[in-house]
This record gives sequence, structure tokens and C-alpha cells, in this order.
Amino acid sequence: MCGIVAVIGSRAAAPLLLEGLKHLEYRGYDSAGLATISRSPHNGDGILQCQKTKGKLVNLSKKVQSQGAKGNIGVGHTRWATHGKPEEHNAHPHQDASGQIAVVQNGIIENHLALRESLESEGVTFNSETDTEVIPHLIAREIKVLQSNGLQNNGSTLLKAVQKTSQKLKGAYALAVIWEKTPESLVLASNQAPLLIGLGEGEFLCASDTPALAGFTKAILPMRDGEIALLNPLGIELYNSQGERQQRNPSLIHGNEQIADKRNFRHFMLKEIHEQPKTAKLWIARHLPAELPKHSPIALPFENDFYNDIKKIQILACGTSRHAALVGAYLLEQFAGISTSVYYASEFRYAAPPLEEKTLTIGVTQSGETADTLAALAMEKKRRNMHKNPAYISRQLGITNRANSSLARQVDNILDIGAGLEVGVAATKTFLGQLLAFYSLAIKFASINGNRSTEEIAKLSEELKAIPEQLTSLIKIHDELSENLAHKFSDTQDVIFLGRGINYPIALEGALKLKEISYIHAEGYPAGEMKHGPIALVDKKVPVVSIAIPGVVFEKVLSNAQEAKARDAQLIGVTTEGPESKIFDAILPIPKVSEWVSPLLSLIPMQLLSYHIAALRGLDVDQPRNLAKSVTVE
Ligand code: G6P
Repeated sequence: MCGIVAVIGSRAAAPLLLEGLKHLEYRGYDSAGLATISRSPHNGDGILQCQKTKGKLVNLSKKVQSQGAKGNIGVGHTRWATHGKPEEHNAHPHQDASGQIAVVQNGIIENHLALRESLESEGVTFNSETDTEVIPHLIAREIKVLQSNGLQNNGSTLLKAVQKTSQKLKGAYALAVIWEKTPESLVLASNQAPLLIGLGEGEFLCASDTPALAGFTKAILPMRDGEIALLNPLGIELYNSQGERQQRNPSLIHGNEQIADKRNFRHFMLKEIHEQPKTAKLWIARHLPAELPKHSPIALPFENDFYNDIKKIQILACGTSRHAALVGAYLLEQFAGISTSVYYASEFRYAAPPLEEKTLTIGVTQSGETADTLAALAMEKKRRNMHKNPAYISRQLGITNRANSSLARQVDNILDIGAGLEVGVAATKTFLGQLLAFYSLAIKFASINGNRSTEEIAKLSEELKAIPEQLTSLIKIHDELSENLAHKFSDTQDVIFLGRGINYPIALEGALKLKEISYIHAEGYPAGEMKHGPIALVDKKVPVVSIAIPGVVFEKVLSNAQEAKARDAQLIGVTTEGPESKIFDAILPIPKVSEWVSPLLSLIPMQLLSYHIAALRGLDVDQPRNLAKSVTVE
């Protein structure tokens, strides 16, 4: 799982590749590498130069700066290790035995072991443990066959060799290939993994995602499944999997892809936590405009027939997005009265439930690139559209922070949460944005199906309008409180997070945030379930963070917290101040709000506590080990 870039044109390739990779590091930062081809000053022959480093892109930049990388054509890669440890020898680009071919790949070659075995039996020696390395060796083998049939060393030969090779590959992948013998040709292939060609003036850049292209061109040509392209400085030849030439116009990247700027904050994550009042304010301005009537106060970018007749909602997501989906399901069921199920996208794609009629499928992914979520949505669309009964027809909605993402290209309707660029791998403001998206859907559905009175709808809308200010003061208070509390817990090994009802997913999110960035083991549990297992972990060394908000399950959560206290746990309450809060050893206070909107506030101490514990431990908060901002392999 990785980010790839490639360039061919009239300028030096290496700076463009490094700049492009900088915007793709969110896809992985275990290692980085690039290969360029320059021409020999003596005879004009191509010279391929390949440089790789372990760890983050900055290491590669230093290497390239000191060693130089010549040429106007090249490929680059930033890696999240799947096959083979994050070591330099496993870094891309991978090369054939002669070192003339260089390949970068994003995805997984599922049949690599069989291919490797057959290549090894022919005497090929491998230099890495990766699945990717079979590709340059296979291409080299195909080139030899084509040469023996009299084909010249030119771009068409490389194209044919990649076409033949891709017929042997199984899995989802995107790749870019260069060959020393054809310094004017770049070949790309895409199969269920994103690859976009950016069209500049007399030059082309290609990348896994738009941010890598945005500073270079706005005109892009997203490759479709099974397509292979041959690029030279003068043009693009695009072929489908049957080898038929394809013609289509480029599209434009919408809006401005933003530039990452930490301002005065120590980490992007902290900056992004502080940006949440703005995220909420913008959301309210766009979706809760004052002029709309009280019974239907929500503005959404869909026609009315979009909501018609929906009897069931199913939500597919991963990680933090799934936690937002769980809050969403609570709202859609309890506020809007629509039966809603949430699935891990990775499970759904192989074990989908039986089809139900009149179903809306929602995919939630901040990046819009998560492979499992995209594949689950595609699978669901396909099986529904094959059904003869129109009641089963596919209706899909994507909730994302990236209007230019693969998700946006894949589904018919998009709700752009508009939270702006999020750099920290641990999602914060995009989580809030996803929650807000679900509040608007719940209000909209409730106003259409009459599940709630005008007064109830108006009350929830008014409470939502107060959220930005409440967030501002809460972040200020909790930044300090959490920092102090973090000192107590920086050596802790295990933490349990408890919540119930609408705040149960926030307990899950609290545990995930802590795990992701501080590497402390944490469990999120519905408070009532604690006695069915996790309570065995509790002793005086295990802090229990309990989200206890006055409402349907307030007393129940307090009792569950008492059960932990009776076993010597240190109790931290994310709660409103009052007589009940005395049971807690420490309080992270939340203002008195209705239970409906409480997740929008209770998430703040979760984020800040994790942040401060990780920062205090001196960890890489923005790029935690082993993680990536979006997971582009299954
Ligand atoms: C990765 C990230 C998580 C994120 C998840 C889903 O695991 O580290 O922070 O929640 O992917 O990402 P998505 O882009 O689909 O929301």
C-alpha cells in the first residue's frame, strides 16, 4: 500500500517526483525511492539511476540532494510495507536483473509466490521479499521474447511487454514502468487501484492521488480498471484490457488542494483538533442556513427523490470513519426511525447480508481512497444492479473529505464534509465532520418521514448551531486539563474506555486514538459489557475512562464506573459536573447539553488526552509507526 508518482517531460524529473511524493506520504512512510533515466553525454544511450532509503521521504530527499538524480523521466514511490519488512532492499523502485527496468507499484500482487517460483526456476535471483519484484523480472522476460521476434527497443515494445505481464498478475495494483532503452517512454497500468495522469504542457505527471498533481496541472485523466498507457513527451496512448485504443477527454481537479502548514502548533494533529470549531461553523453555514423552515432546516445537495422511500440504510467504513458511522446509525435509528446497520467494509465485501429492498448504502471514508470501502461499495452496486426487481436497485452516498477522491469518482452522490486538509494520521476534524454529516442526514430523514415533531427537529438544529462556540471553549479547557492528566498516565500499559448509547462509539474512538498514537493498549467497550470480560483486566494500574452524559443511560454508566472503582481502577469521568461526578478520581468536564449532541463534545477530551500522552512520550504523533492515513490495499 503506497503512493506512486511518475513524470516525463522537459524538466528535471527528480524535484517533481520528490514534490509529488511529499503529498502522498499519507499513504505510507516506511521507505521511499525513485529512479530516473538520463542520456549519456557520449553516445546518447539511456542511463537508469535508482535511489532508495528506509524511513520517511526526508531521507530520500537528502540522498538525492547529495548524489544527484539526472533525467527528465522517472518514477517515485513511498511505501507502506505489506510484503517484506520496511528495509531499504524492499523499497521501490524494483528492478530486473540487468538493472535496466524500474517499476513502482501500489497494491498487492496476489499470485506473486507462484510467479516468483517460476522465475526462480528459470534462474532469476530476487533482491527483495516484496510481491512487486516479480513485475520487472516478468517485463524483462517479455521484452526478450519480443526482441527475439524482431521488435525494436522502443515504447511500443515496453507497452506490449507490460500488457503481457499484466495478463499474468492477479490482484489490485497500479504501476509505473521505465526502461533504460526507451528514455522517452513511460508505461502505466491500473487495475482496481487509482492512477491519475496529469496533463501539463509538453509533459505528463502521473500519481496515485490528486494532491501530487495539483501544483502541476488541473487537467487529469483518471485511468480505468484494466487500462494501460504509454506516455511520451508528445502524447498519451491509452488502451483497455483488450488492447483497444481508448479516447476520452481529461477532467478538471475541483477547487484548490491545500498546502500543509503546521502554523505555530507543535504537531498537525494538535492544529487539526483546534480547527474543529471552524469545521463545525462551516458545516452549519452550508447545511443549517437560517432561512430554512423549522420543520425542515437542513440543506443538502440532493434532489428530494434521493430520500424517497428509503426503508433501510447500511453504512460501510473502516477505522475512525466506522466510529462516526456508529454514531450515525444511532441517530438514523433513534432520531429518524430508519433501520440502519454498520459494517466493516473489509467484512462486508466478502460476507454481505441478504439484499433488502429500498436500501441506501453509505460509504464513509475521509480520504475517499480506502480500498476496502471502495471495493465493498462497488460490490454492493454490482449485485444490486443485477437484480431484476427495481426495489433493490443500488442507491449510494459517499461521505468524504476529498471531493477529488476515488470515492467521489465512484459513487453517484457525495457529501463533502469540507474539513480541509488533514495531515495527522489520527483523524480528528474529519471525524467531527463525518459526525456532522450524519446529524444532517438524520434531521433530513426525520423531517421527511415525520418521525420527529417540528419542535424536536428545531431543538436539535439549535443545539447544533451552538456547537462551534462550545467546541472553542472546550478545546481550550481540555488542552490544559489533558496535558496535566497525561503526566499521570504516560507510563500506563492499559486503558479501558467505557460509553453507552450514542457515546459508545466515542469510547471506541477514544481507545483507537490512544492506541494509534501512543502505542498504549486500550479497549473501548459498551459500559454494560465490561463485566463480561474486560473487568478481569481492571486493577489499580488500569485507568478507566468513562463517558457519562446525563440522558437515557446516565445512571447505568455511573453504576458501571462504580463497578470498576470497586476493583481499584483509577476512574476518569468525561461527564458534566454535579453531585454524581464525585465518584470519579479525575474529571474531564463537558457542558450540560442534550445527549443527542453530546458526542460532538465528548470526542474532544478523547483526542486531547491521547495527543498529550503521545506527545509527552516523545512519539511521532503525526506519523505513528506502522500506520498510514488511508489504507489503499485490502
Ligand atoms: C487508516 C487511518 C485511520 C482511518 C482509516 C479509515 O487506518 O489510520 O485514521 O480512520 O484508515 O480511513 P478513511 O480514509 O477510509 O476514513
